[in-house]
Amino acid sequence: MIQKYQFGAPFETDAVVKKLQSNKYPTQTIVNGTTKIILTEDKSHSFTWTYTLKDTDIVYGLGEANRGINKRGWIYKSWCTDDPVHTENKESLYGAHNFIMIYHPETPDSTFALFFDYPGKVTFDIGYTKTNELKIQIEDNNLYVYEITPDNSSPLTNIITQFRALIGQSYLPPRWAFGMGQSRWGYKNANDIRTVYQKYKQAGIPLDSIYLDIDYMVNYKDFTIDTQKFPSLKDLVLELKKDGVRLVPIIDAGVKIEENYDIYEEGKTHDFFCKRKDGTNFVAGVWPGKTHFPDFLNPEVRSWFGSKYKILTDEGIEGFWNDMNEPAIFYSEEGLSETFTKLKECEKENLDIKSFFQTRSLMHSISNNEKDYKRFYHKTTQGIICHDKLHNLFGYNMTRAAGEAFKTISPDKRLLMFSRSSYIGMHRYGGIWMGDNQSWWQHILLNLKMLPSLNMCGFLYTGADTGGFGGNTTRDLLLRWYALSIFTPLFRNHSALGTREQECYQFEQTNDFKSIVQLRYRLIPYLYSEYMKAALNNTMMFRPLTFDYPKDFRVLEIEDQLMLGNEIMIAPIYTQNTRGRYVYLPENMTKIVWQDGEILSTKSLTKGDNYIECDLNQVVFFIKGNAIIPLAPICNCTDKLDYSKLEILGEGASYELYTDNGFTTNPKKDGMIRILKNT
Ligand code: GLC
Repeated sequence: MIQKYQFGAPFETDAVVKKLQSNKYPTQTIVNGTTKIILTEDKSHSFTWTYTLKDTDIVYGLGEANRGINKRGWIYKSWCTDDPVHTENKESLYGAHNFIMIYHPETPDSTFALFFDYPGKVTFDIGYTKTNELKIQIEDNNLYVYEITPDNSSPLTNIITQFRALIGQSYLPPRWAFGMGQSRWGYKNANDIRTVYQKYKQAGIPLDSIYLDIDYMVNYKDFTIDTQKFPSLKDLVLELKKDGVRLVPIIDAGVKIEENYDIYEEGKTHDFFCKRKDGTNFVAGVWPGKTHFPDFLNPEVRSWFGSKYKILTDEGIEGFWNDMNEPAIFYSEEGLSETFTKLKECEKENLDIKSFFQTRSLMHSISNNEKDYKRFYHKTTQGIICHDKLHNLFGYNMTRAAGEAFKTISPDKRLLMFSRSSYIGMHRYGGIWMGDNQSWWQHILLNLKMLPSLNMCGFLYTGADTGGFGGNTTRDLLLRWYALSIFTPLFRNHSALGTREQECYQFEQTNDFKSIVQLRYRLIPYLYSEYMKAALNNTMMFRPLTFDYPKDFRVLEIEDQLMLGNEIMIAPIYTQNTRGRYVYLPENMTKIVWQDGEILSTKSLTKGDNYIECDLNQVVFFIKGNAIIPLAPICNCTDKLDYSKLEILGEGASYELYTDNGFTTNPKKDGMIRILKNT
């Protein structure tokens, strides 16, 4: 059951698609005899929701967030942030997903979840200040709270399905978006792209997409193509597509301020940019230098900006990634000038312990400064509102602009779209990638842990920069990361300018990479089928083991293994110089070992702890004892997937395979379920 509570006059975020009547929130509720919820809409016009956790309670949710699947023991702030160093101490990442679920393992029926539909900053103190206190705070008391309680005896999955029905069907990517993508910030021109394509081809490594980072544009201007570097994008698109490889360009949030640049001129003429209080257009420094931010909260602006994607689809482009849309601000004019004034003031000072460090942090604090988010406004259907009150909706609405436009630009064919920043609701228009991670072993694990949390919030099309974005990767790290990413819907190798090149062919024994990527392609019928079923039925593709084995308390703390779809369990290796790991099997399962482009072995294992060896050139995964999965023949791109020659793997009896043409915008009509049998 879902209860909707209204406090004050909330901003309509459009996160939720179901219309429900609002109720008055009971100020104090006794739950489960012992724990209590205290809600204060206090006189300071802030909002606090408090709950006493039992030692054994688990707190799930928060989508794209740091740390564990169980969020207890830290403080998280929903505030979309461009921060490329995801260390444990960070409180905010790029997305704001205000959904939490409180699970009582001993009394599962009393499990409940909450969604705080508030687009500004929300603080989730989950046992950080006081071990057993969960405190959610907002400096405002205009919001909706949705409370979800289970309708049946599978509370975890049931609550998620109810929530997902509330927020609407997840984005559906085209099937080619399940192929491998190669990306790097630093490919300078068409020849660099051709080299990537040819080297993958020579190495025999399957590939479906190559990403175009900011260098394809003229001076980082959205919807422009630098014809010096890319003489004919259209021809390049055609050339690569013959081999099933698509190009995926980036679009940034800020529009360069430059006379005669049509997007800038149109935006200026129609007043489509975010404004300061005095009515002038707010200026933010990003890649191109000074830019204006399109006011994506305004439907007219969305339809204008969205229509521009056609400039690139007319060149044959079938997918995009939206970036810098928290929005990232390197500096504002106001911030710069205040900083320089302060720097000047201390120029002749004898800087001491205090003033030196203050001065040093001045330059750093010019970027993504919260003061800047208070300096501009949005013209919304609900009035003119300061950005900081709606901050978390910006990236969502940039991607919504594209998603809404795609309905006209490409009514019959799904386009690839994923964003860096997001809020719940955006999951209907695109996926997300996990932002600027690092080539660190712990980021393989963080990648794994975010998957189920994101799925709870509707973000199914997701994955991390495989190999790590920042820092230098190593061959072993990349191989281990590939062994995880071959299971994630978005599977893209991406890295930052200046870091070690990390395309698979840069490393010795490229065949090891080839083999792992080949397994991905063999698995696509299964992955696509499980993705589509999860999207169409409002379920999770990746689940913590507890969701499937709630009576087995041994799995409650397992955060480095996941259920993938209804048949598979994954347990990747995420530490260096290890050739194996312990894996807990919650039931009897078949262990599959993949190596050198083929199944090396299959072995039935019994429930319990098992030490699993897995060399760098291998992938190991597990199929439930009573299940089977389909495997396609190896192919070099998704266009060549042969569904007529599916092989069966596993010891169970049958599998429900979802299939369609791979691009239909109406899967409920065009999709079908085929029952595969183990004969
Ligand atoms: C941001 C993105 C990254 C991209 C870079 C250059 O850091 O997160 O993926 O490569 O900008 O566009």
